This record gives sequence, structure tokens and C-alpha cells, in this order.
Amino acid sequence: MAVRQVLKMGHPLLVQAAQPILEFTSKELDDLIADMFDTMTALDGAGLAAPQIGVPKRVVIFGLHSNRRYPEAEPVPMTVLINPSVEPVSSEMEAGWEGCLSVPGMRGKVSRYLRIRYAGFDPSGHEIRRDAEGFHARVVQHECDHLDGILYPMRITNLRDFGYEDVLFPELIRTD
Ligand code: NI
Repeated sequence: MAVRQVLKMGHPLLVQAAQPILEFTSKELDDLIADMFDTMTALDGAGLAAPQIGVPKRVVIFGLHSNRRYPEAEPVPMTVLINPSVEPVSSEMEAGWEGCLSVPGMRGKVSRYLRIRYAGFDPSGHEIRRDAEGFHARVVQHECDHLDGILYPMRITNLRDFGYEDVLFPELIRTD
């Protein structure tokens, strides 16, 4: 498949609500997911939502084993989640740094629910239900926000906690 261009903040598709997938096990869906994985992998992302490659559908992918961009993050299972829903399990929030392939070069500190329960479907239409916490819960909340047209800078409560990645985290600069 193909590495697709990632839309950057300012593009109108990134601030629109995406539409649910109505048909599973389709070539169109498989091709979309393959392109999303190719794109996320090429850009070292921990997650990607379909609207970021210009497809306004409720499909997200996420996961990481080890990631240069998030060296402190615990592993998250590689997942395709379609028509997702997310609910907090407790009201406890945690602040943490986020980046986004649609906001290249930047990081911001965002409060997210620490523990969530999420659900959705895999590409065959089988239901997925999981409890998650920490970085896993953060990634799911970030990606699902994309489906409602929300980018993480909209959730930064103090804009002093927003800046350039190479200034905030010089150790992350690619050396290879
Ligand atoms: Ni993002």
C-alpha cells in the first residue's frame, strides 16, 4: 500500500466529526487500514486516525513496542479500532506530554483520564472491549478525539505547556 500525506492542523477535515463505518470486511476498509499502518510506521507515530490522511471515517490505529518519539512510554498493543467509544472508569486525570503527526514538531501537556474503558470493532466486525490506563489510555483518548474533530492543542489548559519538541526534549532529536 502507501505512505499517505498527513494533513496538518488548519486543514478543515481535522476539525470535523468523522462518519461511522457501516460495512466491515471490505477491500476499501482493508486498504485504508494498510495505508494508515504504512503512514504511522514511516513517521514513527504511536497512533493515527483516518481523518489525518483525509478519510473522514471513524477508524483509528495505535500501538507501540518501543518508540523513539516516546521513549518513556509503556508498550501498547497494536490495535485497529473502528467506531470506538471511550468512557472514564474513574474521574482521576493525569497530565502528560503529547505530540501529533498533524502538529509536527510540537509537544503539549494535556490532562486525560487516567483509567478508561474503551470499545469498538476490529476490521472483521468483531467487538473489542478493553480497560486501559496510563499511556495506553492517553493514546486512545487522543486518537478518538480526532474522530470528533478535536486536536490535542485544544485541550491544553496552560499554553505555557506547549512548545517545540526540539526545545522541550532535545534528547529526542533523531541522530540516525
Ligand atoms: Ni494526533
